[in-house]
Amino acid sequence: MRIFLIGFMGCGKSTMGRALAASLDMTFIDLDTYLEERYFKTFNLIFAEEGEANFRLKERKVLEEVSAFDQVIIATGGGAPCFFDNMELMNNSGFCIFLDVEIDSLVYRLIHAKTERPLIKGKSPEELRHFIEELMQKRRPFYEKAQYILKGNEIKPDDILNIFS
Ligand code: S3P
Repeated sequence: MRIFLIGFMGCGKSTMGRALAASLDMTFIDLDTYLEERYFKTFNLIFAEEGEANFRLKERKVLEEVSAFDQVIIATGGGAPCFFDNMELMNNSGFCIFLDVEIDSLVYRLIHAKTERPLIKGKSPEELRHFIEELMQKRRPFYEKAQYILKGNEIKPDDILNIFS
C-alpha cells in the first residue's frame, strides 16, 4: 500500500499525511524533506543555486525512489505532479489523492505559513492571489489525473480513511 497526497502549496498535504500515517500505522514521507536529506541541501538553496529545472530533476529522482517503498504515505511538493510523467508514475505505483482546496483558503494559509517557499517569496496578498489563480489553472489538469479528488476547505483524515474502508 502506497498513498500519494497531491495538491497546491498550502492545501494541507503534510498535515493530512501525518494524521493518516498515524491512523493507518504507515510511514509518512514529506517528499521535500526527503529530497533535502537525500541531497544535503535545502530546497530553497537548490532553487537559488541550481534553478528550478534542476530541482525538478532531483524531485523526479526522489519520487522514483519513494515509489518503491512499502506502507508509506507520501506528501509531494505542489509542483511535483506537473513535471515529466510524474502523475503516471504515482497513479501506477499507488493511490493518488488530490486535495482540492479553494483559492481563498490557499491564499489565507500561505500568507500565514511559517515555511518559506521560493515560488511565492516576497509577494503581497494581491500578487499571491493572482499567482495562485494563474498557476492553479495550469496545474489543475495534472492534479485531476489523480484517482481520487477531495474538494473543500475542511478535508479531514476520515474523508480519506472512508475511501479505503
Ligand atoms: C512547490 C511546492 C513546494 C516545494 C517547492 C515548489 C511548487 O512544496 O516543493 O517550493 O512548485 O508548488 P509544498 O507544496 O509542500 O509547499
